[in-house]
Amino acid sequence: MLRYPIAHLRSTLLWLIAAGCTGELAFAQAGKAQLPDGPGRAVTQRICGNCHGPGIFTKRRLDREGWAEVVDDMIRRGAKGEDEDFVLVMDYLVQNFSKTPAVRRINVNSAEAAELAEVLGLAEDQAVALVEHRRAKGNFKTIDDLKKVPGINTQAVEERKDRIDF
Ligand code: HEC
Repeated sequence: MLRYPIAHLRSTLLWLIAAGCTGELAFAQAGKAQLPDGPGRAVTQRICGNCHGPGIFTKRRLDREGWAEVVDDMIRRGAKGEDEDFVLVMDYLVQNFSKTPAVRRINVNSAEAAELAEVLGLAEDQAVALVEHRRAKGNFKTIDDLKKVPGINTQAVEERKDRIDF
């Protein structure tokens, strides 16, 4: 039954372990700068870092279907993990490297002007006007309160009202 000499088997095993470790180490180092924080980061780092660095996928922008194809392909190539690990990896990839990034929400009563400008697509002076209005008159309670601030791009506010918290 034993076709392979034990010594050979052992060195193969050692090689695999060593290759796995250095791969992970290199990935951990390279990955620090490149993989954004968030749920699933650690497991993605562990599973997807054994064979290549993160650079191979962090520049891609795919939808969920696209990432599912990549992950299936990687499993065929030998990526190992539990099913629930891959669920986390999938969510992490979709969340961070998606064609349509997750909608960012904003609390209009606590956000800084720069953040308001970015998330609501407002010019900077309009965002500043919101903050000043809030300071002078108190918290906004409705979308209409926002639209009443002089100079505000009401259309931008209307378009992004789903992102607004009070
Ligand atoms: C067992 C080794 C292994 C693991 C683990 C692995 N990959 Fe790969 N991956 C490969 C190989 C081999 C290639 C082909 C490399 C090439 O084309 O130069 C590749 C290529 C890729 C590519 C480029 C594919 C293309 O079509 O050009 C992406 C994207 C990718 N991997 C993402 C991932 C993700 C995400 C994970 C974690 C789920 C992962 N890989 C885990 C082996 C692996």
